[in-house]
This record gives sequence, C-alpha cells and structure tokens, in this order.
Amino acid sequence: MSRTVLVTGASAGIGKALARVYATEGWDLILTARRIEPLEALAQELRRTGRAVHVLPQDLADPAAPERLQAEVEARGLSVDGLINNAGFSRVTGFLHTDLQAHRDMLQVMLTAPVVLSRLFLPGMVDRGFGRVLNVASLAGQMPATGGDTLYGPIKSFLIKASQGLHLETLGTGVHVTVLNPGYTLTEFHDVNGSRDQVSRAYPKWMWMDAERVARIGHQACEANRPSVTPGAMNNVMAGLARFLPDGMALKMTANHARRLARL
Ligand SMILES: NC(=O)c1ccc[n+]([C@@H]2O[C@H](COP(=O)([O-])OP(=O)(O)OC[C@H]3O[C@@H](n4cnc5c(N)ncnc54)[C@H](OP(=O)(O)O)[C@@H]3O)[C@@H](O)[C@H]2O)c1
Repeated sequence: MSRTVLVTGASAGIGKALARVYATEGWDLILTARRIEPLEALAQELRRTGRAVHVLPQDLADPAAPERLQAEVEARGLSVDGLINNAGFSRVTGFLHTDLQAHRDMLQVMLTAPVVLSRLFLPGMVDRGFGRVLNVASLAGQMPATGGDTLYGPIKSFLIKASQGLHLETLGTGVHVTVLNPGYTLTEFHDVNGSRDQVSRAYPKWMWMDAERVARIGHQACEANRPSVTPGAMNNVMAGLARFLPDGMALKMTANHARRLARL
C-alpha cells in the first residue's frame, strides 16, 4: 500500500531533496510552495519514477492556507500519512528595520503553519496507526540567539521543543515525530535572504552540507523515531558548545558569528 507525504517548501533546497528521498522510498507525494513552475518540474521528475504526485501551491503566509490544503487533500480523496514542515526563510535586515507585516509573515509560515498543519493531519495518522512528521528546524534553534535575524532562532527553538513534545505524545501510536536541525546547507536560502557573499566569505566549503545528505539523514532519523537529529559532526560540536558553555559565553559566541556576517 502506498503512503502519501505532504512536503511544504518543496520547490527548492531541502524540501525538494526530501521529496526525492521519500519518492525513492516508495511514497506518493503532495508538493506545496508558492512557485508553481519548480513544483511542476519536480512532480514530472518524480512521476517518472512511478510515484503519484500532486501539486498544491499555497502561500503559507496566508493564515487560511493550511485549511485550504486540507480541503484540497480531501477533495482529491487523499489521506496524509506523512507531513514534512520544511518551508522557511530568514531575514537578516535586523528586527527594527524589518516591517511588522514581514515579522508576522515569518511567524505565520515557520511557526503557526507547522502547528496548524500538524493539528489538521496528525489525528488521521494516529487513527490509522501510522504516520511520519518531520519538522525542519535549524542548528540556529539550538543557539542562544540569532542577532540581526532575531526571530529566526526563537522560531526554530519553538519548532524543536514543539516537535519533541509531539514526539512524546505520539509514542506508541505508530506515528513518528522528528525534528531535523540542519546547519549551513547549500540551497537557495542564503540567496533569498541576500547573504550569499557574506556567508561564503565567512565559512569555508567544508562547513557546508548538501541538501541531499541532510534530507537522507532526516528521513533515516524519522524512520528510527529519533526525537531530533542534527546532521554533521561540526554542527553537533556547535550545538554541544551552545548547550554546555555558560550562557554569557554562548551568547558571545553567537554575537561573534552575527558580527562576522555583518548582521550586528
Ligand atoms: N539552507 C540552510 O543553510 C538552512 C540551515 C538550517 C535550516 N534551514 C531550514 O531548512 C528549511 C528549508 O530551507 P532551504 O535551505 O531549503 O531554503 P530554500 O532553498 O530557500 O527553500 C525554501 C522553501 O520554502 C518555501 N517557502 C518560503 N516562503 C514560503 C511561503 N510564504 N509559503 C510557502 N512556501 C514558502 C520556498 O518556496 P517558494 O519560494 O516557491 O514559496 C522553498 O521551497 C527552512 O525551514 C530553513 O529555515 C536551512
């Protein structure tokens, strides 16, 4: 019996790589993001591997988008057995220089939408005794702060904690909930936030992971029902430092990082 996974932010980067991994593992797919062309191109590619692929474009900054997705899923007679909350972006313009609507959109896309989508689709998974939820947070959520990109870290921290809580709530139900915390990953992310030059200058190539590897690690961790996974040895060292250093020192470490990227 084939299962269907809904992937948000499937038009690029880690979401696209996750869609490919799940297709390889035999899943049918529902792909969503704002840009229709890359979603359709990915759908065509994955259909050639024999998978059923549905493209449901939505702007998750619209608070009604998750319910529209659910209505469309039901109208097509589908059920969602897997949910990947991946859509996201960052803003490096500073809290005070970013307008309020942009902050609201960020909270909506990266914090509220994953909560609402989980609340909409998890009960069906629990009822059917099978499900997978993979939330894409960030190494940034394991840090004490992300200065200059001030809401990004706390949003990802929220996603980490909420995922871990859901992981506990669903233990024994057949539903696995895992949070994936990538570090620097080669995607469109730093082009979208306009910091490609700064991050490329500040961090050598070996510190970057490719999206395919990150996606594969996330999929494996979710299959193993691990509550969370941070891909890459270096990223685990950074997460460990943030956890074990005294608060003041960890904050200084993240401030140095933000200054290096000219965000403070
Ligand atoms: N790349 C990294 O270094 C890195 C590190 C840690 C964590 N992450 C996290 O990984 C996740 C994926 O990022 P990525 O690196 O793959 O970046 P990316 O290549 O820029 O992809 C971001 C995806 O999110 C979608 N998206 C953005 N705004 C949206 C909106 N309003 N509505 C619906 N979809 C939206 C984009 O699609 P459309 O533009 O077509 O809407 C795109 O598919 C994010 O949650 C990010 O925070 C990335």
